[in-house]
Amino acid sequence: MTTIAQVSDLHFGSEERSTTEALIDELNRERLDLVIVSGDLTLAARDEEFARARAFIDALDAPTLSVPGNHDITPWNIPERFAAPYRRWHRHVSDTIEPSWFSDDVAVVGLNTARRMRLRLDWSHGSLSRRQIEGLAQRFDGAGPDVFRIIVAHHPFIEEEAQDLSNRPRAIVKRAEKALAAFVEQRVDLVTAGHLHRTYAAAFHTAPDEPTVIAEAGTPAHRVTVIQAGTALSSRTREEPNAFNRIEIEQGRLAVHTVTWLDTRWERDPEPLVTIERPSAAVP
Ligand SMILES: [Fe+2]
Ligand SMILES: [Fe+2]
Repeated sequence: MTTIAQVSDLHFGSEERSTTEALIDELNRERLDLVIVSGDLTLAARDEEFARARAFIDALDAPTLSVPGNHDITPWNIPERFAAPYRRWHRHVSDTIEPSWFSDDVAVVGLNTARRMRLRLDWSHGSLSRRQIEGLAQRFDGAGPDVFRIIVAHHPFIEEEAQDLSNRPRAIVKRAEKALAAFVEQRVDLVTAGHLHRTYAAAFHTAPDEPTVIAEAGTPAHRVTVIQAGTALSSRTREEPNAFNRIEIEQGRLAVHTVTWLDTRWERDPEPLVTIERPSAAVP
């Protein structure tokens, strides 16, 4: 059995101290194999915010896998933003922005969707490059045929109620459709992201003779499930309480439960947000 927590959008700099301590206690009580931190560790990429994020990571018993969010690239120091956007990330969090973590029953691959700039005024939106998409197969090299494949990114790939991907809203990552097609091809089971500060799940697939990725309908050749995590700590909750996702993998079944902060304690939703059963991930 592998148990993983996905915490997102911690936004150190706007966190509640008591919630932070309760989150650390909860994650350590769970005896997790891995804690995924899906971006926006800070509010404005300040060193003191990164230092608090580092202290949080150091207080956890489990190893962590973190990818940057748009808030983790300095908005104030423009020369640094362009010349060394991940300097503070590397100093405080990790020497990589695209980590991987493999166990006997799961392969977790991180993708960086944060960008130092884009050809529009709002630089908060995410993007995946063609190189990242084409490199996916290599990222999963060494993963056994029966393991669940999980992608971690900061920006969302699909909306909650998406019917098709032709009308991509701006918060959705650039090249989402190409990425989703690659996820299907690589038999990815679960995509975990954040950024919206909202919890939801959505699924998509490609139909057997249909190269285009479409939302759930018909008989899938392979289904990929997307889960969005709310913010685990920030007071910027956008009308949802603080929450994180708990991913349990046991005997060919993956279940995600949302754990919600109820002002004094964390409570795990007994109803799973999603479950994924074999043979969805079976490689033909
Ligand atoms: Fe955020
Ligand atoms: Fe974000």
